Amino acid sequence: MTENNSEFLKTKLNELKDAIGLKTLNQEIIEMALEKTPTGGNTKPFIWTWSKNQLLIHQDLKFATHYLNRNQHTSWIALGCMIKSVEIAANDQGWEIQTKLTTDVGAEISFFQSRQIDSKKEKLAKLLSRTTYRGLFEPSSEPKILPTEQPGIQAHVSCANSIISDFKNFMVSADTYLWIQKKAALSFFNEVRFFDHRISLRGIRSEDLGVGLIDQLILYVFSFVPWLLSLIIHIPILNFNFKNASRRNMKNAHYLLVTAQSLDSNSLVRAGQEAMRQWINLEEQGYKVQPCSLASITLVDAATNCLPLDTHQKFRDLFRFIGPDILRRQFNLDPAAQPIWLLRVGRSLKN
Ligand SMILES: Cc1cc2nc3c(=O)[nH]c(=O)nc-3n(C[C@H](O)[C@H](O)[C@H](O)COP(=O)(O)O)c2cc1C
Repeated sequence: MTENNSEFLKTKLNELKDAIGLKTLNQEIIEMALEKTPTGGNTKPFIWTWSKNQLLIHQDLKFATHYLNRNQHTSWIALGCMIKSVEIAANDQGWEIQTKLTTDVGAEISFFQSRQIDSKKEKLAKLLSRTTYRGLFEPSSEPKILPTEQPGIQAHVSCANSIISDFKNFMVSADTYLWIQKKAALSFFNEVRFFDHRISLRGIRSEDLGVGLIDQLILYVFSFVPWLLSLIIHIPILNFNFKNASRRNMKNAHYLLVTAQSLDSNSLVRAGQEAMRQWINLEEQGYKVQPCSLASITLVDAATNCLPLDTHQKFRDLFRFIGPDILRRQFNLDPAAQPIWLLRVGRSLKN
């Protein structure tokens, strides 16, 4: 049989199945959605296989072992993002999903035909074109967030003009963690690909860091002597550029915080699902998004006693007590809500 003939037969078979209400799941679309889902540091630690209409996702530890992925907290949140992506891609074709988590930071996802096709095709398109934005923002009105879908999970938004100065100071201090903690700096430099334009590889291209060419060059030089960076970050005149960059990124930024009632793996996954859902919704409204994990997932680590042993006392206090108190005030949280993931939101200056 020629290729044309078999393509023709496939199309006819699908038309016939559609006519009698027996649809096939397009696995390629699901995989495209998985490929486009964010992962911490672009480590892409997940592997997936199909068993009929069941999708099995699990984590390859070799890609997930990272100083900033303590107790797999970042991976569980990223898995939640993956599950939301699968759901969007399935709904788009008229399928629903049912998910069972597995202990190896994985999930078994089953697909069921739904009577309703999600008419908002936009969502899948936005998911496939989504990127992490690390640049500056222009002024914008407060984004609208969706009412949350997951029990116990909440999404809170703080508008750019209501950001308190304690929050700004906390964000700057949280950013310095990357430079002061030597192993964190090493992990960061390991994940950056300097002056490499290939988009599909693991790791983050230096041009996607949201800084100019000169700053990329400075970081490149520091990647050979990260210990020097941990020294100069303590010296006010020399750290000015780094602190200034953190402050510049906050200009015109709104913030979205996802909280949960508990910090177990199940809650982290559901927080990831909710964050991804809000992220796509924000992209639909024309906003761009960047996770601020140093100022949020570290709070999860501190609250669950998972900060690395070499963490300086200053950061233990920051992430265990000072940060949670500031987020509580900034987002007006009720006492049961525990911060999980913070996202910076705004309109890109590029457009
Ligand atoms: C759990 C998690 C944590 C992340 N934390 C950060 C972060 O702190 N800062 C950041 O710029 N990007 C963060 N990202 C985004 C990834 O770096 C990004 O998805 C990856 O580099 C791929 O780029 P893309 O989103 O543009 O496709 C995070 C993503 C996930 C899923």
